[in-house]
Amino acid sequence: MEVALYQPEHGYYERDRSVVGQRGDFYTSVSVGPLFGQMLGFQFAGWIEEIGGRQPATCNLQIVEAGAHDGQLAEDILNWLQRHRPDLAACIEYWILDPSVRRQEWQRERLSMFAPRVRWFASWAEIQQAGGVRGVIFANELLDVFPVHRVAWSAADQRWFEWGVRTVGERFIWTRLPALHLNVAALMQPGAALSNLDEGLRASAWASLAPLLPDGFILEIAPFAELWWELAAQSLRQGKLLTFDYGHATGDVINPSKPHGTLRAYRDHHQVDDILAAPGTQDITAHVNFAVVQHAGERAGLATVELTEQARFLTRIAQRTMQQPAAFGEWHGERVRQFQTLSHPDHLGRSFSVLVQERV
Ligand SMILES: C[S@@+](CC[C@H](N)C(=O)[O-])C[C@H]1O[C@@H](n2cnc3c(N)ncnc32)[C@H](O)[C@@H]1O
Repeated sequence: MEVALYQPEHGYYERDRSVVGQRGDFYTSVSVGPLFGQMLGFQFAGWIEEIGGRQPATCNLQIVEAGAHDGQLAEDILNWLQRHRPDLAACIEYWILDPSVRRQEWQRERLSMFAPRVRWFASWAEIQQAGGVRGVIFANELLDVFPVHRVAWSAADQRWFEWGVRTVGERFIWTRLPALHLNVAALMQPGAALSNLDEGLRASAWASLAPLLPDGFILEIAPFAELWWELAAQSLRQGKLLTFDYGHATGDVINPSKPHGTLRAYRDHHQVDDILAAPGTQDITAHVNFAVVQHAGERAGLATVELTEQARFLTRIAQRTMQQPAAFGEWHGERVRQFQTLSHPDHLGRSFSVLVQERV
């Protein structure tokens, strides 16, 4: 997954910036139109004022986006701030965290008009060296594209094993690994250092529930997403950390309705059966385990504000914008249409969740 998505020359997210959106392989809330960014701009401005108070204190605050891809969401947020909150736009900094040189180039191109106020970072270590973050750190559809371990239950052996990938001629195929990867094996140990599953769940999942599972039952374990979130949380000195994504909360990590797990591939707006086919030309993604991510933030000292449906989160913002029409701009027909797509349960409203944590 790491190589197929991020290898600097052939990786799916390195080759072509137009993979997201109508002409690409899948939609995100960003490709629905600028409303998502406008609403985030409105919400972030409110949070920034709560954190920093009035100028000049707000001038030492940052909005940090990770997974910015081609910079579209950053542009939507910065455009809204410039137009409706020029006082904040002229004062705060917009930071982008992206380890890819190529994607940083796409972002620099798109955001050139905001240049003096935008800074790029390649790692949390760099952000921590810059003093950490006071403000808002956020990502949209990032955690679902971090590599996962694919673990399956063997009824015959009464144990978990891990699926790996190997080549046969020109093709890639799944292969049963002789041993669990250390990241995964660590989870099975009582008192393990990795807390990928909470204690109760770990006990029930690995010990009592597993023998009841059908042979071959698959689940994913995502230590990279967990570690990434913990680093993000550690980098937040004061403010909010949030992510939008699809996934599951505690309890349905072992989900009887998903015996094959949630790892999947997309191309041309369709799910592709063969996840291993044509690496570099299709997206590969898995559900986010929000319970694990939430615990990672809490370990770093953050308090959880909420884990809720995207529809509910955006509806609350919409209500506030309607109470302050002069501050947000008019709700014309196009905005209403975009809002319906972002919030309707049949579109992005229910399948997407928002996790918000904070350090006060
Ligand atoms: C599914 S796309 C979402 C793009 C955009 N946020 C949106 O909602 O349209 C995920 C993006 O995250 C980027 N990404 C992957 N790993 C990353 C990391 N460690 N740090 C920052 N961005 C990363 C991918 O290359 C890709 O551009």
